[in-house]
Parts: sequence; C-alpha cells; structure tokens
Amino acid sequence: MKLSWLGSMTLCAALTFNTHAIEKEHQILEEGEIWVTIGTDALPVLSKEFAGHFKKTESRDGVTILKVKDSQRELLSELMHDNFHRCGGFMVEESYEEAKRTMNGVRKRRWVNKHLFADYSIDQQSYVKEMVLKVDDGKIAQVIEHLSSYHNRYYKAQSGVDSSLWIKSKWEELAANRADVTVEAWEHQKFPQPSIILTIPGSTHPDEIVVIGGHADSIAGFWGGATRRAPGADDNASGIATMTEIIRIAMEKDYHPKKTVQFMAYAAEEVGLVGSKLIAQKYKSDNKHVIGVIQLDMTNYKGTDEFDIVMMQDFTNAAQNTFLGELIDEYVHVPWGYSKCGYGCSDHASWTRNGYPASMPHEATMQDGNPHIHTDRDVIDQSEGHAGHAAHFAKLGLAYMVEMAK
Ligand code: BES
Ligand code: ZN
Repeated sequence: MKLSWLGSMTLCAALTFNTHAIEKEHQILEEGEIWVTIGTDALPVLSKEFAGHFKKTESRDGVTILKVKDSQRELLSELMHDNFHRCGGFMVEESYEEAKRTMNGVRKRRWVNKHLFADYSIDQQSYVKEMVLKVDDGKIAQVIEHLSSYHNRYYKAQSGVDSSLWIKSKWEELAANRADVTVEAWEHQKFPQPSIILTIPGSTHPDEIVVIGGHADSIAGFWGGATRRAPGADDNASGIATMTEIIRIAMEKDYHPKKTVQFMAYAAEEVGLVGSKLIAQKYKSDNKHVIGVIQLDMTNYKGTDEFDIVMMQDFTNAAQNTFLGELIDEYVHVPWGYSKCGYGCSDHASWTRNGYPASMPHEATMQDGNPHIHTDRDVIDQSEGHAGHAAHFAKLGLAYMVEMAK
C-alpha cells in the first residue's frame, strides 16, 4: 500500500524541516538540499530506488547522514514506508550539527551483550590503502594448494590433525618477529583436530575482541568422511588462505591494533559447526567481549556474474553487514549484494547464537554456488588455478580488521 505524503506526515509527526545552509567544507549544503539521518540498512534500497537524489556523507553505528534534495523528501518518505514499514527510519535534521547529535545519540543507546556496540566509522584510509596494495593472490593460491594436498582435513582423521597443525606452524612462522603475538592449538575433548587461534593483543582495549574466522576441516560426503579424498580447495582452504594473507600483511606492516584481533581456524565445522560452537560458548560463559566476527568460508569461486562479494543475511548482524558493504565500497571497489543460506550454514551462526554480531561475506549467491564442494573435485582448477577472487576478501578482511580494532 502506498501512503500519501500527508498520510506519512501524520504517522511521522516528529519530522521537522529546515533548509539552512552551514559553513564548513563537506558539511555545506547545496541549494535545495536538506540534511537527513537514516538507518544505514536502508542505503542499498536508496541506491536502487532513489539514486541521484541523495549524497552520503558519513556513517556510524547504523546511522548515516545524507544530503537529500528537498524536492524529493516526499519520495523518500514513501520509499521508507513501502520498504521498511516504519517511522523514524529517517529524520530530517535542522543542521549538520543536529544530524551529528542524532548519530552520536544512537551510539549511546545501542548495546550488545551489555557492552557498547562497535564503532562502525570509516576513517583509516591511509593505513588500509597501504595494506590492501600488498595483497598477493599468488601467496593465497600457494596456501590453498598446500591445504588441498592433504588427503582430507576431516576432524577425526590424522590428516585433519596434521593439516591444522600445519596452519599453526605457518601462522607462527609469519609472526616469528612478534613476541606479543601468540598462536595456540585449542584442543577439543571429543575429537583430535584442534582449532587454531592467532592473537594480536590490543594495546589500549585488549578486552575488546575482533574475530576473523574460517573452518579448517574438509569433508566429502557425510559417511566415510575419514577415508574419502576431500581436497576442500574452495571449502574452505580458500578462507584459511585468505586469513593467512591478512596475517602475513599485518605482520609485515608491524600492525599494532588498539583492540585485540583473533584469527580462528575452526575444527569440525563440516559435522555441525562443532569447533566454533565450543569456542563461542566458552567465550560467552567467560563473558568475553567480542565486538564483531566475520566468517570467511568459501572465497575463491566466482559463481555470480553481477557480484563479487555476497553478504549472507540470515544468522548474521544486519548493521555489521551494512558496514562491510561500506568497507567494500571504500576499499575493495567490487560489486556486492545479499543472499541467504537458509540455515546456519557456517561458523558465523555459532557466534550469532551466542549473542555476538557476526557476518559472512561469501563468494557467490546461494543459487550460483560452487557445485563441486564436498567432492574430490573441489580443487583450485575450478577457479582457473588462481586466487584472484579470494584476493577481494583479503582486502575486505584487512579493512575490517583495521577499522574495527582501532
Ligand atoms: N561452506 C559450507 C556452507 C556453504 C555452502 C555456504 C554453500 C554457502 C554456499 C559449509 O562448510 C557447510 O558445508 N556447511 C554445512 C552445514 C553445517 C551446519 C554442517 C552444509 O551446508 O551442509
Ligand atoms: Zn565450508
């Protein structure tokens, strides 16, 4: 149902309008523009339906400040009602300062696990851009090839243990010059494959943790998983190799975050998210303050023509998904979209179920997914023998790490 502008006015009585210009560089309105604050989750819809009528200035904690053509405010109101069925999804502001106050006021009210929500601002351009330039897809491909060379990485097989211990030694080698960085094998009581965790401790807020994860195990079919050949090049040597490239660059740049960053190579994902479930439950019972999680599971198969990165919408945090989209626009410059697994398809769901904000930026939409996973055909040749697609995810992971842990 379409609401008329008058109808919208009575529903959203709190809206006030003012077209005063103010005098500060990018904070200046052009003639005929007004300031609007809006839920950042509405931006994809606006980009489609409202393109050309607004300019984005800055975002924080799920709120974005826009400059909107005054003549288009009615259309904006209609769009918001039609798409979001809510008032207060946007507000017209008196001035830039007032818009800022709205944005900062929201920040104070948003809590996760009794803690302040993450700061979703983007302002580390010079550092992130240097890091992103270092991404080397040849190095990602080497790790994919090494991990695929194990017969399988099944959670109960010796090759599953050996491949995870290889990840540990590879990460230790990358962190060899950093006494503060630790790499541990997190042992699980009921099966032999450990999860591997690399920690870069935060310098000023070590208790706030950013997690970049992916599963280390592989499987072919469900029965006979211990004996069948499962190279798992895409699922999920690609995610582990992407994380390894992020670690390599962080160490090369002698990166010292303010908050703690942890890289997690989970055991036993393919048999029900088991490794990540045990870790996320323990973090929750220890009251650990994880401010954000991303899951890198399958990054090297370009299955979808129109998007390079696809954000899974289910079992994930919408505000963080939007933030990741903004990071892609700022630092990766590839088209991105949304899809759904339809079920808790990977380790992000373990974190979500324990109350932590998690996201899964993925290689393709669900319908265009890699048809070779969980078979002996999941080899890097399905990606033309290179890791060009995974490189986008290494860039996104670097941007996420630096902007979250600052
Ligand atoms: N990487 C897959 C999940 C996936 C597959 C995501 C295709 C997107 C597209 C993951 O390793 C997996 O296989 N998960 C299981 C479910 C899990 C709860 C055991 C699955 O999808 O069957
Ligand atoms: Zn997987």
